[in-house]
Amino acid sequence: MTEAEAAERLAFLAAEIARHNALYHTDDAPEISDAEYDALGRENAALEKQFPHLVRADSPSRQVGAAPAAHLSKVRHALPMLSLDNAFADEDVADFIDRVRRYLNLPTDAEVALTAEPKIDGLSCSLRYEKGVLVLAATRGDGTTGEVVTDNVRTIPDVPQRLAGDVPEMFEVRGEVYMSKADFAALNSRLLAEADDPEKARQFANPRNAAAGSLRQKDAGVTATRPLRFYAHGWGEVSALPADTQLGVMRAIASWGLPIAQDLGRFTDLDGLLGHYRAIEAKRADLPFDIDGVVYKVDRLDWQQRLGFVARAPRWAIAHKFPAEKAETELVAIDIQVGRTGKLTPVARLKPVSVGGVTVTNATLHNKDEIKRLGVRPGDRVLIQRAGDVIPQVLENRTPEAARPPYVFPTHCPECGSEAVREEGEVDVRCTGGLICPAQRVERLRHFVSRHALDIEGLGITHIESFFRDGLLQSPADIFKLTKEKLLSRERWAEISAQNLVAAIDAKRRPPLDRLLYALGIRHVGEVTARDLARRYRSWEAFMAMIDSALAIRADIQPVLGEDERKCLQRRNKAVVEAVATPNIGPEVANAILDFFEEPHNREVVSDILAAGVEIEDVVHEVRESPVTGKTVVFTGSLEELSRDEAKAQAESLGAKVAGSVSAKTDLVVAGPGAGSKLKKAADLGIEVIDEAAWLEIVRAARG
Ligand code: IVH
Repeated sequence: MTEAEAAERLAFLAAEIARHNALYHTDDAPEISDAEYDALGRENAALEKQFPHLVRADSPSRQVGAAPAAHLSKVRHALPMLSLDNAFADEDVADFIDRVRRYLNLPTDAEVALTAEPKIDGLSCSLRYEKGVLVLAATRGDGTTGEVVTDNVRTIPDVPQRLAGDVPEMFEVRGEVYMSKADFAALNSRLLAEADDPEKARQFANPRNAAAGSLRQKDAGVTATRPLRFYAHGWGEVSALPADTQLGVMRAIASWGLPIAQDLGRFTDLDGLLGHYRAIEAKRADLPFDIDGVVYKVDRLDWQQRLGFVARAPRWAIAHKFPAEKAETELVAIDIQVGRTGKLTPVARLKPVSVGGVTVTNATLHNKDEIKRLGVRPGDRVLIQRAGDVIPQVLENRTPEAARPPYVFPTHCPECGSEAVREEGEVDVRCTGGLICPAQRVERLRHFVSRHALDIEGLGITHIESFFRDGLLQSPADIFKLTKEKLLSRERWAEISAQNLVAAIDAKRRPPLDRLLYALGIRHVGEVTARDLARRYRSWEAFMAMIDSALAIRADIQPVLGEDERKCLQRRNKAVVEAVATPNIGPEVANAILDFFEEPHNREVVSDILAAGVEIEDVVHEVRESPVTGKTVVFTGSLEELSRDEAKAQAESLGAKVAGSVSAKTDLVVAGPGAGSKLKKAADLGIEVIDEAAWLEIVRAARG
């Protein structure tokens, strides 16, 4: 794969994974299976490993989950709630243990004890106990900010209001809220029986979604009617720890009256861990709840502390996932869906089949190439795979080779009839209808109001479609022109609902710059890139001034005499990146941003929004202080207590930059025994030099 292709693919993966995160975490309505989701993550990780300089600011490897829902109040976690890295093969587990040893600077044969327990498919929840009394319960949310669900959690019988025994002054228990398989099935039947219109009855896709939907209710009375369960697997902020090992603390938590995993074990070697994994896997189908793997954690807490976290996951734990479940069925038809950017996505409609206890009727086919690779046509028998969710994946075609013509991918958009083309170097076929394509316009509107964009509550896809059909809503600006009167003139709109929607819209008349930038749906501009741009430019005016000058710069760069096209393109890309001048934004994203604003109708969308009375909120600067913040540090010589990785992570966590060589830009050199030329250079340049002990002192002092 070329670098350009890799960059393109990484951009796609960032957007796609973000979309699935939102569907899964925020909407409780996933479109793809866990296995498929994991495959996207794996592909992303592999590409990032191969092209480390292409890692995006909005890379999924740097993020956790999705933002909290709007109807629950929010709370900032005292300690972030993170995610876990995944292992799929036994070798990944061996690598994990090796990494732990290396990071801790241990001999290659040193014994590392690990705990192992099932990974329950639920949603994580933090329970804060003060003086042994439950005072706050929160969901993970985006990892930093969660939703307050205290009243809801109080209805879960597994969760004691008061802990028993000798409990620290303050202790945050973290664990999983889940629903058993039997309770999930019973809940779905009950919802069906209770619905006025069985066609429209709410049905949960799987126990995990049922648990999430039940816990995140506005009304705890509803949660109380849902059979939720809880099991603890860790902790967050605590005033004191009752033991110095993972296993010890988990046993203490159990002794206070909270459930922990029955299959929690401690092992001192790889064989022990893998044996436990196989044993749990063997009884997976018979367990009363869904599990999707086994979690291993370094037992010694002083080691956990030193290992710390990288991006979104701890270095001291890993989830060893189970392989996905498979089944064979008939592919009945291939439907084409049209997305916001005009992308045509083929979806396989399947003859219903039970896979690991869940009935599957749809599977994604990703794109034109995937259909070709699989060689599938309606009528074929296909092998599909799922691991707990709704839309699984087609793995292979099981139909004997026959002289039937292959499936022909549409050359025109099924929604608007415009030509559908595939640009050079692209995987996707796109409708060229742009704003005349109703599917694209509706999807753009839907994106504009979605949770991570303007987050307008109560303006769901059904309303958007019907307003769009009737001409009430054509472009984002029209949202801000909706009035109570206009709504009331429509069928089935009553005073209260109209008032609520208008109020929800009014509440979003001052969107922060980053949200607006994200809401515009500029290609390759995900939430993180939007945030980077907003932080860099702070105001809409400053941002647009940059755009205008960058567009002028780009237009000015033409091939000079004797220059080949590629050279010129490189020069242009370099200038564009410099003009956009935002950390983590490379040529592809920078060009996409400029392309967007080069289109007059896109500028019109924004000027109409502003004309409708929307004021874009500036970014106010946030300051973060720490002793070596902003300084450049060089480590040289051999460190005794720390590995290089740990030292580097410490420096970065204090806001310092770590450089590999000493220069005039270096502020501090940390030198261990055997330091040579770098130490000499530091002395020549008059740069401060300290030893490892002094460095550790700085770290300790900064961490308080
Ligand atoms: S430990 C620092 N242990 O899986 C994060 N997580 O994919 C430590 N989960 O967010 C998490 N069972 O919600 C841990 N035995 C277990 C788990 C478990 C389920 C969930 C948890 C976590 C997610 C990561």
